[in-house]
Amino acid sequence: MEIKFFNSCRSMSESACDLIVDFVRKKPDALLCAATGDTPTQTYQLLVEEHSRSKGLFAKIRLVKLDEWCGVRPNQDGSCEDYLQKHLLKPLGITGHRYYSFKSDSSEPVKECERMAEILRKIGPIDVAVLGVGVNGHIGFNEPGDVLTPFCHVAQLAPSSQGHSMTRHFGFLPQLGMTLGMADIMSATFILLLIAGQSKTDVFKTLLSRKISSQCPASVLWLHPHTVCLCDNSSVQLE
Ligand code: GLP
Repeated sequence: MEIKFFNSCRSMSESACDLIVDFVRKKPDALLCAATGDTPTQTYQLLVEEHSRSKGLFAKIRLVKLDEWCGVRPNQDGSCEDYLQKHLLKPLGITGHRYYSFKSDSSEPVKECERMAEILRKIGPIDVAVLGVGVNGHIGFNEPGDVLTPFCHVAQLAPSSQGHSMTRHFGFLPQLGMTLGMADIMSATFILLLIAGQSKTDVFKTLLSRKISSQCPASVLWLHPHTVCLCDNSSVQLE
């Protein structure tokens, strides 16, 4: 994993946008896996700006949702679906046949994960995975624990994940999430890990220790041959 530091969220996001755009120029039908949450939002805004300058750039791109809360309506504020529709899918004109997604309101989340696993077997592997990290070190909803899970699965959410700012709209604390697994993520050709915010200081220090542990799923990215971690050094406080 290569780690790069930036002095603002803006400059981190510009670098992330440039890396994604470079990849898409080389592979226009790239399969992009997109995290949600606060951290990647500016990167996605910049991609949308690039789209308005370079018409057709994203005309063939495919997108897979990294993770989703269980038991929320897709158009509910705070659902990953709602986020991706607003920040990427609608602005970039990515329509149904180029988009693969866990259904947030599925009554059978285990079957929903099996469906997504089957889809990923057909369309994968991922070309570019854009990831954030949870305050507890999760990537997607691969939560810390004694073991990690390779493929799409239903995850019991850690308390810190349940308390994520996205869930404040729900009126209840989600217990379960659906997520791509660690092998799905690690099979990506290129992984972009974005880290910003004071709350990420501890997890970033853990990453910097270069110790790999299932108790910090993001640390497994040290084993990936082409991961770039971009860190907004103005908000993550190392001293
Ligand atoms: C959420 C999402 C993750 C996201 C992470 C960090 O729970 N499931 O995909 O990367 O937490 O979110 P944020 O960037 O808002 O800190």
